[in-house]
Amino acid sequence: MYLKFFGLAERPFAITPDIQYLYLGRQHEQALDTLMYGINQRLGFVMLTGEVGSGKTMITRALLSRMPNTVATALIVNPILSVPELLQAITKDFGIEVRQPSPQKQIEALNKFVLSKVAEGGNALVVVDEAQNLSTKALETLRMLTNLETEKHKLLQIMLVGQPELLKKLKSHELRQLDQRITARFDLTPLTDSEMVRYINHRLYTAGGGGRVFFDAKACRVAYSESKGLPRAVNLICDRALMAAFVQGTCMIDKNIMKAAIADWRGRPAQSPWGLLKRLVFSS
Ligand SMILES: Nc1ncnc2c1ncn2[C@@H]1O[C@H](COP(=O)(O)OP(=O)(O)OP(=O)(O)O)[C@@H](O)[C@H]1O
Ligand SMILES: [Mg+2]
Repeated sequence: MYLKFFGLAERPFAITPDIQYLYLGRQHEQALDTLMYGINQRLGFVMLTGEVGSGKTMITRALLSRMPNTVATALIVNPILSVPELLQAITKDFGIEVRQPSPQKQIEALNKFVLSKVAEGGNALVVVDEAQNLSTKALETLRMLTNLETEKHKLLQIMLVGQPELLKKLKSHELRQLDQRITARFDLTPLTDSEMVRYINHRLYTAGGGGRVFFDAKACRVAYSESKGLPRAVNLICDRALMAAFVQGTCMIDKNIMKAAIADWRGRPAQSPWGLLKRLVFSS
């Protein structure tokens, strides 16, 4: 509802991982390079970890969009699956038709597919997002899938993407063999304060805001101390701040507007513009 007022084409701080809005700081470039290297070098397992809302899914999408089309990819986004279901999800996403659902038949068909890809000079990659939700058995199954190898290379590449619980899981006794096989890893950290300011401006610019709406330095400081530089939290706070500024009829987001937006965001349900206005009046 505030788009017209700020001259924006879209909501700049939506919380969907839309790669049109991708902001690439140094660590994001490094993450993409590390993971791409592991996949291209056929190292078998690569892993991307990071706190909730740190941008793992966004980086995963960016990586997939950069993948040459000689690389076949299967993306599993909801890995609360039994072993047979996981195998079926992988073959289905690769577009492999397997008549029998038995795990053995699925694995055979997958191996055949991977060998044919490699023979064509291509590669095959399975990406599992939210991998902290994989069961120990499912993780072990993935490890077995990478047993298909030549003397030098793994033929199937697997990328695990998950929250810090995934790291804990991999430290368990049963999974130590898998843990050892993860050759390329990257842990995403939150944005620094100056990165967060660039991130905010980048999103505003991408959404079509040609400098009309502005977050001042103090407002950014408040947003940083609240969000700790986690992009999803930054988006949620900034979206509320835009709403609060709209209610006040200003394009300048200052410290007071930011504080009111944060008070609204913390714990309290989404408010009507009039609720926000009341809070702004009482806080000023
Ligand atoms: N590098 C980035 N550039 C632009 N926007 C980003 C970036 N990283 C994160 N975001 C924004 O933050 C939101 C949260 O990021 P994302 O969903 O990738 O986090 P996540 O680490 O996968 O979280 P979860 O642990 O909950 O799965 C995204 O929807 C996106 O809007
Ligand atoms: Mg995610």
